[in-house]
Formats: sequence, C-alpha cells, structure tokens
Amino acid sequence: MLRHDAGLYPPGVEPRDWGPDDVDERHQDPHASADLQGDVAKIFRAITKFEAIIRKRVVAFFLSGAGVITNSELMTPLRVAIVGFGTVGRSVARILIHGVSGLRLTRVFNRNVNRKRVDWVPASVSWTETIDDVFSPDVDVVVELVGGTDPAFGWMRRALSKGKSVVTANKQVMARHGLELFELARANGAQLGFEASVAGGIPVIRGIQEGLGGDELIRVQGVLNGTCNYILSEMASSVVSFETVLADAQARGYAEADPAVDLDGFDAQAKLAILSAVGLRRRVEPTTIPCRSIRGLVTADFDAARELGRAIRQVSVAERVKNGSGVRAAVGPAMVRLDSRLAQVAGSENVVVVDGVRGGQTAFVGQGAGGDPTAVAVVSDLLAIASGNSRMITHAFPVVGSDHRVVEMGAQPHYLRAAGGDEAERRLTEFGVVGAQRLDAVDNELLMVTDPCTTEAIEKSMNKLTNDEAVRVLAALPLVD
Ligand SMILES: NC(=O)c1ccc[n+]([C@@H]2O[C@H](COP(=O)([O-])OP(=O)(O)OC[C@H]3O[C@@H](n4cnc5c(N)ncnc54)[C@H](OP(=O)(O)O)[C@@H]3O)[C@@H](O)[C@H]2O)c1
Repeated sequence: MLRHDAGLYPPGVEPRDWGPDDVDERHQDPHASADLQGDVAKIFRAITKFEAIIRKRVVAFFLSGAGVITNSELMTPLRVAIVGFGTVGRSVARILIHGVSGLRLTRVFNRNVNRKRVDWVPASVSWTETIDDVFSPDVDVVVELVGGTDPAFGWMRRALSKGKSVVTANKQVMARHGLELFELARANGAQLGFEASVAGGIPVIRGIQEGLGGDELIRVQGVLNGTCNYILSEMASSVVSFETVLADAQARGYAEADPAVDLDGFDAQAKLAILSAVGLRRRVEPTTIPCRSIRGLVTADFDAARELGRAIRQVSVAERVKNGSGVRAAVGPAMVRLDSRLAQVAGSENVVVVDGVRGGQTAFVGQGAGGDPTAVAVVSDLLAIASGNSRMITHAFPVVGSDHRVVEMGAQPHYLRAAGGDEAERRLTEFGVVGAQRLDAVDNELLMVTDPCTTEAIEKSMNKLTNDEAVRVLAALPLVD
C-alpha cells in the first residue's frame, strides 16, 4: 500500500498524483533528486490519464450497443438474387431493401419481368427474365421462391453446382429431393436453407436443430396446413356446409382455385416428410405417407366433436417405430382434445408439437403462411449463411442411410359415422371394428366411438361395404391425444 507520508513526496506533488497502488514507495530512494522524482510523477500522470480515456471509450462502446458485432457485419455483404417475385419474393425484397446488415439484394428474376417491376426496388437491383443471370458471379445466394418441382428443382441444382448457396421455401422439392440437394451443397461448399418450407414463419427447423439438438425426438405432430385449419375452424363455429366455407376461403385468397393439394393432405404430407428427416432423423419418401381428405365432413361431425369435448383438425403425425427402423405416419382429419395444443391454433395458424426422450413435449406456434411471416424465415436463413453458421444448415438433413419405411399408425379409438344404423354396426363388428360408445344420430346413421383399431381396418371394412349403398362408412377420424 502507498503510505501518504508527506515527507516521501517531491515538493508540489500530492499523494493522489502518484501512480497505481502497486507502486510501493519503499522501493523509492528517499535521497533521489527532486528533478528525477518530478519526471516520474509526470509519467505516472500521463499513464493515469491515458488509462482513464481508454476506460471511458470501452464503456461507451459497449453501452452504445456497438459492442455487439456479428460476423456478417465484419464481412462483405452476401449478394442475393430472388427467383420468383410473387407473394413471398416481394416480402423478402422489402425486408432486404429496408436494410439487413450483411445482405444485399442484387437481382430479381421472374418470367415476363416487366409486369413485376415496382418503384420501391432501388435502381442498383437488376431485373431479369433470363435465368442464366442468376448464376452470374455477382450473386452469392439464390433465393428460390417460384414453387413447384419444375423448373425450381433444376435451378436449385444448378446454383448449388456452381457453389452458390440456396435458400428456399419449397416443401415439394425439399421433401422429394432434399437428400440430393444436400449432397450437392456439401460437394460444392455451398449452403442450403429451407426454414420457410415448413410452417411458414415459425422457426421450427432451427428450433428442433439448435434448441432441441441435445434431445432425441420420438414424435412430431402438427397442424401444418392453414387452409384446412381455416375451413375446419369456420365449420366448427358456424353451421355452414363444407362447400360454402371452401368458396368463402377461395374468395378471400386463403385457398387455391384448385384446393386439392391442401384439402387432400398433400401439402402437409411434404412438410411432414421434412419434419421426419429433421426431427426424427429418419428420411421417408413423402408419397408413402397415407393422406386422408377433409372433404366429406358435415355439421354432424362437428356436433359430435363438441359432445366428445374435442375439435376437428387436419393432423400430421410421424413417430419413430419403437425398437426398429421405420416411421409411423399419417395426415388427415382427427379429433383432438379441446385442451390440447393442436386444438389451440385457429384460422391460418400452424402448430408443431415434438416429443423428446429427455426434454418432454415442446410446441412451436405461429403464422404458418403469408408473405411477411414466410419472408422472415427466408431472411433468417440468409443471415445464418452470412454469419457462417454452416453447421446448422448442412447438418439439417440425415444424408447417410436409405429412406425409412412408412407404416400405418397404431390402433386408436376412432369417431365413426356410417349410413345404415344398427346394421352398419353389426357388419363393422364382423371386420373387428367394435363400438365403445354410441352418440345421438339422425336419419338412420350410426355415430359412435370405437374401441382402439387402425384407420386401415376401418377402410378395409369400408371397401367391403361399398357395394351396399345403404350401409356405408361416411367418416372415420382417429381420436388423438
Ligand atoms: N405464400 C405463402 O404463404 C407461402 C408460405 C410458405 C411457403 N410458401 C412457398 O413459397 C414459394 C413461393 O410461394 P408464393 O406464395 O410466393 O407463390 P406466388 O405468389 O405464386 O409467386 C411465385 C412467383 O414465381 C413466378 N414463377 C412461377 N413459375 C415461374 C417460372 N417457371 N419462371 C419464372 N417465374 C415463375 C411467378 O410468376 P407469375 O406471376 O408469372 O406466375 C410468381 O411471381 C412456394 O414454394 C410456396 O410453397 C409460400
């Protein structure tokens, strides 16, 4: 410690002017000349001032938030080309033009591009209808937003082969050709981001990979199609027919002119195949996942759901077959408990619920579609690429081993509506479909909850009953917990 004995200091030098505490005056020569001691004091003063300035600057730097510097801010911006200037493409362009550190929009491609030009895109961005321009050296990442398999898949392959990274919202291409694209990306040192291909703006791919990477997921369940959810929510809350609600959804732009892909489950089927690969680490051929349509549901089914304390949802589920390879999977209308997470989503929202061996159940909820929410997922992938988070993107899909076999879901109780009343129940029993609870019905219909059985068993009995118009199964929905 510094002793403040006045006699030890040179004339005119106050004790506070001396240097740091670790300078022990016992090492000072009390007989040293006053000049020498004055010089030492000056040096200490200078050091102290310099130290204070540095300290102030460091504090100001961190307080201003400037201390948070990402890799992307330190690097040259990634040059981005948008391929497909539609609903999502426009929203992505708006975000990029607004200014995202580390990303710069350089090109926009679309067929008949002059129809697409907008004045809010700066002149520095070049518009093109020649796809070759997208593969030019001034593009680092191709954002594929045209949709469909062809020509989108070919363009993605071309970009990756040239070492350009690709970000896509295309579930059909990712579900069918994800493996090939990942291999191509790896071989060419490129990245492949596909967060937007499942559940729109919900960061479910990243959530599973990064947030739950330490767990082992055994089941992935979800409400993955906004159009179906909108129609089913509307039918539950108003006494209107399926056809009326569908026409309304089409008029509002919630459903396509040809709604088959949504209603019959093929959209959710592709998303479920991606979730199986990312979450369960088991790739499956998407077309082998059984799909059942929501067409044919009537008011009586929604009344029955209410009576059972349930809601009707288009549910997609994939789970690991215990003690072996394979995935149990299905997409179709199901009755879910009103207090379940699957029942909570309304309108065009999506939900994904995963079950882990160690972490238990985790739910991801949010906007499953729409230009802006989906664009957020696209831009987040671009930022991950810009910041060099390559592990996240290149380890998303299992690229070793062959596809897993899809098997039918196990036995579950079913809600069942059939024409033919008692006769229908008698015949169903012959096929092993046994009633556990009868519900009120009209017009000689049979409404009941079955003992656990597979949907396949009900469908087999349906096939055998189809010759008899008077005795037919009209709806069969598993009761999902
Ligand atoms: N919209 C959503 O809410 C949403 C949500 C999640 C994922 N996605 C996915 O995002 C992707 C884009 O969807 P979107 O809704 O933005 O579709 P969109 O509005 O139909 O936009 C597609 C754009 O691509 C252009 N295009 C299509 N085929 C082309 C071709 N062969 N050559 C050149 N240009 C072509 C279209 O031009 P034209 O105007 O000439 O047809 C249109 O501008 C799809 O994969 C979709 O599944 C969409």
